[in-house]
This record gives sequence, structure tokens and C-alpha cells, in this order.
Amino acid sequence: MTVVGVIGGGQLARMMIPAAINLGLELRVFAESEGSSAKLGASQVGDCTNLEELVAFAEGVDVITFDHEHVPLDHLRHLREAGTAIFPPPEALALTHDKTVMRQALADAGLPQPRWAIATEGTLDDALAAVGGLPCIAKLPVGGYDGKGVRIVETPEEFSDWLALGPVLLEERVDFVRELAQLSARRPSGEFAPWLPVETRQQGGVCAQVLSPAPDLSEKLVAEAQSIATTIASTFDVVGVLAVELFETRDGRLLVNELAMRPHNSGHVLTEQSVTSQFEQHLRAVADYPLGSTALRNPHGVMINVFSDASMELFREAAEQAPDIKFHSYQKAPRTGRKAGHLVLTGSDADDIFARAMTAWELLESRKADS
Ligand SMILES: Nc1ncnc2c1ncn2[C@@H]1O[C@H](COP(=O)(O)OP(=O)(O)OP(=O)(O)O)[C@@H](O)[C@H]1O
Ligand SMILES: [Mg+2]
Repeated sequence: MTVVGVIGGGQLARMMIPAAINLGLELRVFAESEGSSAKLGASQVGDCTNLEELVAFAEGVDVITFDHEHVPLDHLRHLREAGTAIFPPPEALALTHDKTVMRQALADAGLPQPRWAIATEGTLDDALAAVGGLPCIAKLPVGGYDGKGVRIVETPEEFSDWLALGPVLLEERVDFVRELAQLSARRPSGEFAPWLPVETRQQGGVCAQVLSPAPDLSEKLVAEAQSIATTIASTFDVVGVLAVELFETRDGRLLVNELAMRPHNSGHVLTEQSVTSQFEQHLRAVADYPLGSTALRNPHGVMINVFSDASMELFREAAEQAPDIKFHSYQKAPRTGRKAGHLVLTGSDADDIFARAMTAWELLESRKADS
């Protein structure tokens, strides 16, 4: 039996577990704590920046893949030299570890993206000029997530604390119509399968809702989103699921915001909506099985993230009102602003499923609002 090791015990690893069971793969999770979301599959708890612990985890594992981007790339090269397949490979993962590396690699590949520059204390004026001046977007190159390393800035003082620490990525502030995500997967042989692009809606820099497929997206932009994903996957030898976050601009262009090389929040809707979920597809790709169909079973799907820790209790009530709603709990220790789960509704009437999903979501979040 193929043994797949996942580094990281978050909800993405958790949701790989049922897919692994169905595929007949053995899944082992290297989790960061005993109480991790993926504790059901955790076979080791430790520090993923510690090489010795990683070497012990790799023992008896055929292929290592990821729930997050925090494993040092040198450690991964070491494990690969010792004989464990690493998918996606460390050279591809480098683009997701550092946003400046990603911007340079996308530029070299001729892919469309916002104007960008690397600012240091000595090159601030040139960098600001290169992105068209202020206001602009400042990003920490490494370690940001859920918008935590992203600021809209109107003066240089608003990111001087980051500049004192090291280089800061500056980007033009894109005047987008909406944000999209293009999910796809690629096998080591090069076999590639895209889904239709989805629309993602963020609140406070965090993904709040996903509409699938992206409503009224022109055929031309669907083809362009899929072509961007194919180019990225093949140029950088990505293996597994690739999520490309995109901006749709007012003048009808697509610009790449950022990349993830693992299942992604924007793809959760596919578990109910697609013939093959992103979790199953990721495992098929990294285990080098033929990819599954990415056809949609339902014409419309909506996913809404749930942040309330009271959601499990309230889910009983929500389920009574809408038996077709699917709720996914991450069983994470509650923390303000932390994703606790998500709900998905699919159907043939986009307005109807959106309205009913919002009603259920409001109920799930209501306890938090009251308390
Ligand atoms: N150049 C830009 N112009 C306009 N808005 C932007 C730009 N870059 C980022 N944003 C906004 O900030 C959000 C978060 O940015 P980004 O995806 O780079 O951060 P992150 O914290 O790494 O994200 P994630 O939540 O996906 O981990 C984007 O979804 C978008 O709404
Ligand atoms: Mg993002």
C-alpha cells in the first residue's frame, strides 16, 4: 500500500483522511500538537522545522506532501536525497514560501501580475515609483496568511516597522472587479486537470465565501485562467493541487495574486460539487494515480467559512431548516477570527442556494454575536 505522509495537522490534512481511506492509501500526519484538527490521522506530533524529527517521520513513507508552507526547503531536499518522494517538489514550493520569489518566477515565465517591486530602506523611492506610487499594497514576503502580512498603505510610515526587519514586497493596488481562484491538479507524468474557476469573496483579507463556478465568467477568461494554471504547473513542475488566486480587472484581464500548492480554501465547495474533490485529487496526484474527473455534479455551489465555536451545537438547528446543507467542522480550539469550519450548498438555482446558505451561516454565527 502506498503510504502518504502529510506535514501539518490542520483542516486540509484532516479533510484528506476520508479521501485516503476511499483510495486505499495509508495516510500519516505529522501534526504540530496533540489537539490538531487532523488528530484522527496523526502518527507523529512534533516540530516540522526539526530535521531529525522529519527524518523519523519519513521512515516508511513513500511520498511526503503538505498542509502548509512552513517546512524548510533544505530539509525537504535532504529527505528527497534519502529516498522519499516530495510532492510538490521543493523547487516548486519555493514560490509559495516567499512572495518575492514567486513574483520573480512569474515575471520570468511571462505571466500577468500586478506591478511589483522589492523595497528596502535604501531603495524605497524607486520601489514606490515602480508600483505607481501610493497608495499601494505592502506585503511581508514570508509567513503571511489570511491577510495578516498584507497592508494597504498610504504613507511609507505605515510599513516602516516591516522595512526595519528586511525587504518588503510592494504591489500596485489593483482595482479589481472581483477575485477568482483557479484550482487544478498535476501528476508527476504531467497529466493535468483543471476545474472551472471559482469566485472568492474576502472580508478583512480572509476568504469568506466562494461561488462555484464563478458567475458569468466569459469563456475567454475561463480559458485564460486555465491556461495560466497549466503554464505555472508545467513550468515549475508542480505535483498535486495548485490554486492560483487571480484578480479580474475592470478592463477584462486576469492578474495572478498568489499561489498555493496544496488543497485550498477556495476549493472546499468541490467536495460536494465535483465528481472528484480537491483532497482526493491531491492524493491521486502525489501518489501518481490517474486523475479523477473534474466535472461538476451540480451547476451551482456556494461555500461559506464559519468562524463561530458554537457552530457544532447550532448545526443541529441549521440542519433541520436545510437538510441539504453540508457542514464541515475542523474541531479546532476556538480562537477569535479562526476558521472553525465551513458549509456548502449545491443546487440548480444559484440565488436560492446562496440565500439558504446565508440563513444557515447567520444561525451558526449567531451565538457569537449574542455573547
Ligand atoms: N495587489 C493587490 N491589489 C489589491 N488587493 C490586493 C492586492 N494584493 C492582495 N490584495 C487583497 O488582500 C488579500 C490577501 O492578499 P494575499 O492573498 O496576498 O495574502 P495572504 O495573507 O497570503 O492570503 P491568504 O489568506 O490567501 O493566505 C487578497 O485576497 C486581496 O483581497
Ligand atoms: Mg491569498
